[in-house]
Amino acid sequence: ARTVKLAVIPGDGIGPEVVAEGLKVLTAAASEHGVAFDTTEYELGARRWHATGETLPDSVEAELRGHDAILLGAVGDPGVPSGVLERGLLLRLRFAFSHYVNLRPVRLYPGVGTPLAGVQPEDMDILVVREGTEGPYAGMGGVLRKGTPGEIATQDSVNTRLGVERVVRYAFAKAAERPRKKLTLVHKDNVLTFAGELWQRVVREVGAEFPDVSVDYSHVDAAAMFFVSQPQRFDVVVTDNLFGDIITDLGAAVAGGIGLAASGNINPENDFPSMFEPVHGSAPDIAGQGKADPTATVLSTVIMLNHLGLHDAARRVERAVAEDLQARAKNGVDERSTSAIGDGIAERVAGQG
Ligand code: NAD
Ligand code: IPM
Ligand code: MN
Repeated sequence: ARTVKLAVIPGDGIGPEVVAEGLKVLTAAASEHGVAFDTTEYELGARRWHATGETLPDSVEAELRGHDAILLGAVGDPGVPSGVLERGLLLRLRFAFSHYVNLRPVRLYPGVGTPLAGVQPEDMDILVVREGTEGPYAGMGGVLRKGTPGEIATQDSVNTRLGVERVVRYAFAKAAERPRKKLTLVHKDNVLTFAGELWQRVVREVGAEFPDVSVDYSHVDAAAMFFVSQPQRFDVVVTDNLFGDIITDLGAAVAGGIGLAASGNINPENDFPSMFEPVHGSAPDIAGQGKADPTATVLSTVIMLNHLGLHDAARRVERAVAEDLQARAKNGVDERSTSAIGDGIAERVAGQG
């Protein structure tokens, strides 16, 4: 049997609650497919920071590097200054492990409610390929004359030829595999002219390698509108780190809610472990109450299983989720706890022939 070395970072808030359910479902799938998950849990996040001042010790980063994949819940806590854990842990891992593809599907599963009138599952099947290591997230910039009326804060967007080209090529390759074979670049090249021109030129040049893929462009403000008014416009979307962050929360809201939105931080070359996590955060408003929907985490494990080449197991888990979502539609309001939803999905995984 194949053994997958999986590092688990439950993190803060609802992170541990949803990760427990993700692992429950993975365990059910593993026994059906002759796979074993050898998991190591790492206590990182608010508690560790309060206790030791550490966000991610170098020794832990080195240990994480030795794993096949990482499953993360969420980081961020109202008791920790904003950004300390987000930058010091989550973004540090994305950067250190060169997770330049942040894969975020926006799919409407059958039976799931959307606020968009008349929109059917076939109208909403978008794969957002968000750049994961650059843009305004790079941490470039600074503050001048702090605390004075003349204070200036700058936050530079970093766009390297290498960084843009590798994510654009990945997005084209994904588009080429899909029936519609359409790639939309989402940017703001009417204002962000330096970065926008680079993205446009790279899309043109790399596009020449993919003659079957049709290319479209949308400014990010219009894309936000079209996600709501005409989601059918989009197949694969490639975009900058910050635009991708924003439009995928919007995508989550129109595709059944943030509790269903999954992601993978992928290093396609497998030089480093890829990291899988729900799109949502630590949700301090509902933490510790068993109210969080673990489905986003379970669907993130589907992306992980596919990344690891465990396609049968991925299909089984995704089918179990789809069935669970269908059953919810029939049962009306879903008042199940986090663990009851996890149990339900795990039972469907185990029950499938
Ligand atoms: P959030 O995603 O944590 O919460 C936004 C809203 O969605 C809240 O009302 C919350 O209750 C709800 N929600 C989120 N996940 C849910 C789930 N699984 N089921 C049901 N409802 C859910 O975003 P926020 O409030 O902006 O951020 C809270 C903290 O999380 C901040 O510290 C932020 O920096 C951090 N954050 C971390 C990540 C991450 O680790 N990847 C992502 C986003 C935000
Ligand atoms: C996400 C989150 C993170 C991001 C934050 C917490 C750094 O919002 O994963 O979407 O902006 O990428
Ligand atoms: Mn986000």
